[in-house]
Amino acid sequence: MPKHTPLQERPPKRPYVLINMAMSADGKIAAAASQFSRIGSKKDEDHLFRLRSSVDGIVSGATTIRQERATLSVRTGKQKKRPTKSAPFRILASAHGSLPLTAPLFTTPGGPVLVLTSNQIPPTQLKQYQAKAEGIHQSKGKTIDWISALAWLRTEWNIRRLLCEGGGQLNQSLLKAHLVDELNLTICPIIMAGSEATSIAEGTAFPSLEKCSQWKLKTHKQINQESFLCFVREDPLTLT
Ligand SMILES: NC(=O)c1ccc[n+]([C@@H]2O[C@H](COP(=O)([O-])OP(=O)(O)OC[C@H]3O[C@@H](n4cnc5c(N)ncnc54)[C@H](OP(=O)(O)O)[C@@H]3O)[C@@H](O)[C@H]2O)c1
Repeated sequence: MPKHTPLQERPPKRPYVLINMAMSADGKIAAAASQFSRIGSKKDEDHLFRLRSSVDGIVSGATTIRQERATLSVRTGKQKKRPTKSAPFRILASAHGSLPLTAPLFTTPGGPVLVLTSNQIPPTQLKQYQAKAEGIHQSKGKTIDWISALAWLRTEWNIRRLLCEGGGQLNQSLLKAHLVDELNLTICPIIMAGSEATSIAEGTAFPSLEKCSQWKLKTHKQINQESFLCFVREDPLTLT
């Protein structure tokens, strides 16, 4: 394998992409009914908010945003210790435009909202998002074309660090495309079991062990009963 990727083979400019997940000891992020269930502790929540305040954009899938009534916002007021920086973009990933405009993501103050969608979105829903969101990227295919969407986030909105907060379907699409640079996993002392429980990467599997995405452990910290792991890509050279 060459040590450096030739310039002409490098992907377009994109943000550094981090995933953050709290997972059970068996790799699940939600219980079988796939309802919102917080599995991490207060320390894990603090960790999430620290990561949020270190990025320029936060992306999440429509199901997670709907079930968790997520606003993807940062902590404000007294708890903010860093110098003021503009709130990160809040980014919805939704091929079909299934998240209604009444969702707290659209109605709660915070960073500007961007939408990543596909050719599956009904025209009326696209119009509604256009009226409400700061910007929309519509991929030509049925799902989000991540190469083009990430390039758009980087070049149009100057998003240099992007935090992906799941869920499993969204994570899988980025991981399968080898577009994730850092994995932050909080392992919680619980077993959820069963294929019905959502795992950190859903959808189709990598076809063989050789083709799996490979990671190196960068840091490891234990706080009470939880382990906070940070992995980085084995081959970080594809980031331009
Ligand atoms: N423990 C944790 O840290 C944690 C973190 C996050 C989420 N969760 C849990 O995970 C569960 C949800 O995970 P999930 O896997 O079912 O769903 P998800 O990834 O949150 O959302 C799936 C939806 O997002 C859109 N989407 C995702 N990837 C896409 C792509 N590549 N292209 C186009 N659209 C895409 C689609 O929306 P449309 O249907 O609108 O097209 C899809 O139906 C929830 O129970 C949540 O509470 C846990």
